[in-house]
Amino acid sequence: MAGNWKMYKTAAETTAFFQKFAPMVAAATHAEIVICPPFVNLPAAVDAARSANIEIGAQDVFWLTEGAYTGEVSAPMLAAIGCRWVIIGHSERRQYFGETEETVLKKTKAALDAGLKPIVCVGERLEEREAGATESVCGAQFDGGLASLESEQFARIAMAYEPVWAIGTGKTATPEMAAGAHRFLRSRIALRFGHKIAAACRILYGGSVKPDNVKGLMAQPEIDGVLVGGASLDPASFASIVRFARQLTITRQFLS
Ligand code: PGA
Repeated sequence: MAGNWKMYKTAAETTAFFQKFAPMVAAATHAEIVICPPFVNLPAAVDAARSANIEIGAQDVFWLTEGAYTGEVSAPMLAAIGCRWVIIGHSERRQYFGETEETVLKKTKAALDAGLKPIVCVGERLEEREAGATESVCGAQFDGGLASLESEQFARIAMAYEPVWAIGTGKTATPEMAAGAHRFLRSRIALRFGHKIAAACRILYGGSVKPDNVKGLMAQPEIDGVLVGGASLDPASFASIVRFARQLTITRQFLS
């Protein structure tokens, strides 16, 4: 159950969030909980989550380890401060910051090399869904990027299906729509990496997940978890979403 804070909260607000949130989810030992704050708040988040069952992730990463790249942050830098996860290829990065399949692939490899666990996002826009192109768009995103990984590398990533039209809009995909897209992605993964890796790959759903719709989404066996934006900013709201985490299975052992 992952929270993507996007460009919200100061360091002080980050610490305050964890003071409330950590006790709320302390009993959810079966859940794998990840919070992804803005870069500058990662140290405060790592510190605040240290003795809690919560891991911290970044929202992006650069693909080289160091160099003259003003404004960028590398995977080894993230790993060194205790960050464990990183979101890659979020639709907002694709839309506003020129992210492509090629950069998604490079960033994913860099994250894996540094021992980070990538959550790689794919998803279609509204006009693409309306044109019946959901599968061709998600399939092309997969084929153009992640499909080039080695099996051993792919086995260490999680994916997120995030239909662009559902992000921040209050329009969630119905559980059936989300499950259909997940099933398609898993079949594409199986074609490239085989059934065992496809079955073990965790695919999260993201796009206007809220405390009142998470139950239906998590009732779909195809949906392994959720990537939550707006509703992860409030401790009580995200804690009530975490309640629907599924028992960790062999999948987790396979990935860790
Ligand atoms: P949202 O964002 O839950 O606010 O729609 C999800 C995301 O962008 O990961």
